[in-house]
Amino acid sequence: MDICLVGINHRTAPVAIREKAAVRSGKLDDALRLLGSRVPHGVILSTCNRTEVYTISDSDGDTEEASLDFLRNHLEAADTVLFEHTYVRYGQAAVEHLFRTASGLDSMVLGEYEVLGQVRQALEIAEKAGMVSLPLRHVFQSAIRTGRRVRDETGISKNAFSVSSVAVDLASKIVGRLEGCKMLVIGAGEAGRLVAKAARDRGVSRIVIASRTRERAAGLTEMLGGIPISLNDIEEELDTCNIIVTCADAPHCILDVPQLVAPMQRRPGTPLVIIDIAVPRNVAPAVTQIKNVFLYNIDDLSRISDKNCRQRRSEVKEAEDVVAAELAKFTSWWQDFKVRPLIRAMMSKAEEIRRSHLDRTVKKLPPLSDEELYSLEMMTRGIIARLLKDPIHVLKANGHDNHEYAEMLKELFQLNIESNR
Ligand SMILES: NC(=O)c1ccc[n+]([C@@H]2O[C@H](COP(=O)([O-])OP(=O)(O)OC[C@H]3O[C@@H](n4cnc5c(N)ncnc54)[C@H](OP(=O)(O)O)[C@@H]3O)[C@@H](O)[C@H]2O)c1
Repeated sequence: MDICLVGINHRTAPVAIREKAAVRSGKLDDALRLLGSRVPHGVILSTCNRTEVYTISDSDGDTEEASLDFLRNHLEAADTVLFEHTYVRYGQAAVEHLFRTASGLDSMVLGEYEVLGQVRQALEIAEKAGMVSLPLRHVFQSAIRTGRRVRDETGISKNAFSVSSVAVDLASKIVGRLEGCKMLVIGAGEAGRLVAKAARDRGVSRIVIASRTRERAAGLTEMLGGIPISLNDIEEELDTCNIIVTCADAPHCILDVPQLVAPMQRRPGTPLVIIDIAVPRNVAPAVTQIKNVFLYNIDDLSRISDKNCRQRRSEVKEAEDVVAAELAKFTSWWQDFKVRPLIRAMMSKAEEIRRSHLDRTVKKLPPLSDEELYSLEMMTRGIIARLLKDPIHVLKANGHDNHEYAEMLKELFQLNIESNR
């Protein structure tokens, strides 16, 4: 048994590939059901930076194939594309990857907070779908604890950068001063909230928030200010806004060439900067054919984040130390966990033998006092404990990664092993 990770992320694939693998939050249940038809246990972590499938593999390697098939179905691409962009990790490497991810060390925007909530949510949704086994739960709970410790104990999340705030920073680099600009935010979920907040904090004077339902946009503007509109009403905003940031969880493009041609003709000479941080993307790449439309997607943020990353090497080192400490703790748990069924089986067989021999002996003896019975009980228990102490110690030290120990003990003690899930 081992932990298996199959994934695709911002380091291995551009957004045009990642968006195909992305599982939108409302579709996670369906995706888990599909995965569940092949493997009993699994967690899917899908964010703007990655789609990853964590499973517990058995010896025939079928779970890796099931996870690859899952990504293959989403990508609808040839195997060459799948293998070019996908990574597979097992055991400690898979766990370390998740710990780094939850800590924001694997994010495009180093130290971002949002990914920790997304890891927690991925576990919760998989739990509700009945897809989480004890080892997977322990891996994810340990990752969440690691992510929390890294945020609490190191400076990695100092200044609380997020993809959304970096998008607003990119806008400010492109247009210069944001004061006096009008920004249209399309999407009123968590990403939209962070964009609107960053825009307000950086002095954008007019913010319009659009959501599929106007009520959702109004919920945000009540908190942050700005004007709420429904997606159906964005057309007239296109005549006057300077910057659009798109972050709606839509499976299709919200802005395409036909919607932008007329508004851009009505505002000759006034550029429109669009930053699309949604995955899947909300804006068709073809809009760049329209004069004065400048489109950036989430991968274009990496230049700003790379600089941010270079400036914060010492904080990365501190965060990596926390990850290493948590990984050591997890590894020790995992080693115990893997040999636990064998130890349980050995102890229960020994206890069965002890009990039956003791009962038989006591029946043959003249009646014993409670004190004498207690002494016999303790003495026989002591023999069993002493006899099994060394084999258990050796098994814990070596049995987790050497099947021969386990096989030999099973054979020698004639044990029936129950699974550990
Ligand atoms: N969360 C982050 O920190 C973060 C960071 C970077 C990028 N992103 C990307 O930003 C996007 C949104 O993420 P989120 O976390 O904010 O998700 P979310 O909370 O689920 O987004 C909700 C928003 O998406 C709209 N929406 C949902 N389905 C839609 C559809 N079929 N058509 C049009 N609009 C639809 C909702 O409209 P109604 O509720 O009004 O229907 C609402 O405005 C995703 O593509 C994500 O990858 C997120």
